Amino acid sequence: MFTIVSLPGDGIGPEVVAGATRVIQALAEKHDLEFSIEEHPFGGASYDAHGEMLTAETLEACKECDAVLLGAVGGPKWENLPHDKKPEAALLKLRKELGLFANFRPAKVYDALVDASSLKPEILSGTDFTVIRELTGGIYFGQPRGYDESKGWNTMVYERHEVERIVRLAFDAAMKRKKRLVSIDKANVLECSQFWRNIVHEIHKDFPEVELQDMYVDNAAMQIVRDPKQFDVIVTKNLFGDILSDISGMITGSLGMLPSASIGTIHALYEPIHGSAPDIAGQNKANPIATIASVAMMFEHSFCMKNIKEEIYAAIEKTLSEGFRTVDIANPGDRVVSTTAITDAIISNLKAS
Ligand code: IPM
Ligand code: MN
Repeated sequence: MFTIVSLPGDGIGPEVVAGATRVIQALAEKHDLEFSIEEHPFGGASYDAHGEMLTAETLEACKECDAVLLGAVGGPKWENLPHDKKPEAALLKLRKELGLFANFRPAKVYDALVDASSLKPEILSGTDFTVIRELTGGIYFGQPRGYDESKGWNTMVYERHEVERIVRLAFDAAMKRKKRLVSIDKANVLECSQFWRNIVHEIHKDFPEVELQDMYVDNAAMQIVRDPKQFDVIVTKNLFGDILSDISGMITGSLGMLPSASIGTIHALYEPIHGSAPDIAGQNKANPIATIASVAMMFEHSFCMKNIKEEIYAAIEKTLSEGFRTVDIANPGDRVVSTTAITDAIISNLKAS
């Protein structure tokens, strides 16, 4: 039996997590597997109920289960709280406490959606790369940090061991793919980036088969939209990975398509890249595919069932090719369906496969 903690969170979080949960249940039935899915409050929803975005109980549950499934956190209601009380701070704390130092964000183009992006189909078609973002270090966590009336400050700092473990993992990932790794930094300006680059080259000696390229982050932002097919595996620090993965989102047509897996040595958390989208919350309009694809990543990484991951991806692909679209990926004239309807279609394709 596998134990999953689900943290629906705020905005569209509960809707997309509900869809993904139904997918897990359908897979359990189909493959005769047993899951216990335990829901816990997190984010603004938790703050309203318990006065805290991340309660000790929720954190403990996340530490005890096999995998965490997260929807999204935040919204206008909690925007004016002090910085360290905001839902975003709770998400960072959760990542840190669970030791989730590696964030995988695959950007893959679904053939059926090649027209949904603002980029030209011929540029996109065949794109398949993954961004590996360092998630528990860098400027997101560096001290000192703060602001007063006269200045604001943050610190970008990386310890050697933090760089080594993410870079090693990226080389490993590249070995399992096309053996091409691009390390993205700003070594022409930032000492912290030069430090990162030096370590990347040291570790490269252990992976001589991997073709390594260094790229400055400004150039990388351009290259991702100019010629995304050139990339296989990207590794980068926390802040650059945050920005570049949103850019990569446009390659799949919508952030609503992009899953992610955050992995540490013990724990793992899966979440869509998109936010809580308060403007469409509660309207059954949200795209559940990023969350369903995050479940696919969970089956691969946490449950070692790559076959089921592929089944999920195939069911998503089939559903898209049948013309089902949520509003975020629809072109004029497309059949726009609800969160629940596209989930139903994915589940029926899963059952049929
Ligand atoms: C993401 C988000 C988070 C981040 C925020 C919500 C803290 O943008 O997961 O990309 O910056 O890491
Ligand atoms: Mn982000």
